[in-house]
Amino acid sequence: MYRTHTCGELRIADKEKEVTLSGWVQTIRKFGAITFIDMRDRYGITQLLFGESLNRQIDENPLGREFVLQVTGIVSERSNKNSNIPTGEIEIVVSSFNILNRSLVPPFTIQDDTDGGDDLRMKYRYLDLRRNIVKQNLQLRYDVNRAARNYLHHQGFMDIETPFLIKSTPEGARDFVVPSRMNPGQFYALPQSPQTFKQLLMISGYDRYYQVVKCFRDEDLRADRQPEFTQIDCEMSFVEQEDILNTFEGMVKYIFKEVKGIDYTEKLERMNWEEAMRYYGNDKPDTRFDIKLVELKSSFAEEDRNVFKKEIEASGFKVFTEAELVGAISVPGCSDYTRKQTDELTDWVKRPQIGMAGLAYVKYNKDESLKSSIDKFFDESKLKMLAEKCGAKPGDLILILAGKEERTRKALSDLRLEMGERLGLRKPDEFKLLWIIDFPLFEYSEEDGRYAARHHPFTSPKPEQVHLLDDPSQYGNIKANAYDMVLNGNEIGGGSIRIFQRDVQEKMFAALGMSKEEAQNKFGFLLGAFEYGAPPHGGIAFGFDRLCAILGGSESIRDFIAFPKNNSGRDVMLDAPSSIDEKQLDELQIRLDVKKS
Ligand code: AMO
Repeated sequence: MYRTHTCGELRIADKEKEVTLSGWVQTIRKFGAITFIDMRDRYGITQLLFGESLNRQIDENPLGREFVLQVTGIVSERSNKNSNIPTGEIEIVVSSFNILNRSLVPPFTIQDDTDGGDDLRMKYRYLDLRRNIVKQNLQLRYDVNRAARNYLHHQGFMDIETPFLIKSTPEGARDFVVPSRMNPGQFYALPQSPQTFKQLLMISGYDRYYQVVKCFRDEDLRADRQPEFTQIDCEMSFVEQEDILNTFEGMVKYIFKEVKGIDYTEKLERMNWEEAMRYYGNDKPDTRFDIKLVELKSSFAEEDRNVFKKEIEASGFKVFTEAELVGAISVPGCSDYTRKQTDELTDWVKRPQIGMAGLAYVKYNKDESLKSSIDKFFDESKLKMLAEKCGAKPGDLILILAGKEERTRKALSDLRLEMGERLGLRKPDEFKLLWIIDFPLFEYSEEDGRYAARHHPFTSPKPEQVHLLDDPSQYGNIKANAYDMVLNGNEIGGGSIRIFQRDVQEKMFAALGMSKEEAQNKFGFLLGAFEYGAPPHGGIAFGFDRLCAILGGSESIRDFIAFPKNNSGRDVMLDAPSSIDEKQLDELQIRLDVKKS
């Protein structure tokens, strides 16, 4: 028997027991004739004491970090107790030990504050996974998985697997493709999501489906995006938007309770998309703090509006001259910002990622006096009006940006988040959930010169607006029966009520610029299925990795995936992707013509 107990299990109540433990050597400390070893396994760390005779054995046959040991000994009370670990009151006085395996010196220390950089830890991910911090993340992931399954199971959902070798599903990214040996010259696509399959399952009558499932998207990677990631994917029949919102609000609250012990009793706010854009500048607002965007342009008379123009011309910024949007945020408690600080903020908004030409500010001092970078143009009474319009209080710093509408809105949103961060208002252990609803059905793509689906092409318009699909001039006004769940400024889930009639789906494809033939070719199976009694249905998919990361207090999903890819989509441990040999290519009848970059 390799072990009677784990390394995290023994307590003072086990004193005098003879036990056998197995695990990895974390640290070795020699004190004259005795040696202390901290031995680690998945469950914790236990201190081992090797007395004089065993010490000699160790001297002859030295142990090293990460060796795998088996020890037998007596649980004893420690003289020097460690209250930081659960086993800190005891140690094992070892009577015999066995080296089960040796280890090379690991390339980095297996500790919370490791000395290994990102790349090195990715290359030796199996060692990184031994670290406590990573282990806790994977444990949290498992806890979320179990809680979600438990909730869905009790709500009558059935886990049904769907295939990976399929035909393209349009979720807005590029497909990963797999060549077919048996069908030379033809390719499968890996699913960007199981979207069409879950809809087919509804048509088959499985009215509550779920799956914790891998999805594959070839898109630019960021901290919250991986090329393969996991969704908690769900679909329901005979439901309206309200049913879905309630069911999944319930699921997330259940997860909060089970995994974090948090009673999230508050009903989730429902914010419509337009409000989110207007007050937060994006459709996934971080509502942990209450700074809102204020649009100023319309609040000024024509000559005042030109202030921004004049100011910009005076300082040589041409962009403001045609400002489509003048917007502001009022930042609490920052009226005492120094010139250096406002200059630094100005540089911040001028960085290419933000792309603004400049920043105007008004300090609403605690004594109610006003001081601004636009004093030359605005007298005190106008500044007062501006402060009032911004809902500012004495002590606030009002930051104003102007420029092209879309870019300015995005910049205001980024500035809002940045100030929230600087003021410590985005606490990782505070959670704020909400729904965003009433998205536009389409968004216009300047690049393609046509409308694209904002969610995906299976999303239903609001029922009262279905007829607008007949009128291209109205496309921009159609609202979707779609919703996203947002947690702390991250989109953690999104879904919609689906189109379930063939003619409506055909109109939707046509609106997206697809010919009848193309629609038939790509989605004939779904259009056909709609003719055999498709029930009304809708669903949602949660970004499982994102949910775990945020619950774990991080915005990087990589830390919550056992074997993630790096930012170039590579698995540096496996060295994938990699070339394949000629024989495999021949079998696939593929000839490579890779352009050297
Ligand atoms: P959507 O594309 O919005 O919807 O995806 C659902 C959720 O998946 C997460 N997500 C990602 N997580 C990590 N890496 C990525 N590359 C990535 N892309 C998306 C997000 C997102 O909210 N079939 C529809 C759902 C439906 O309509 O039911 C879909 O996939 O958290």
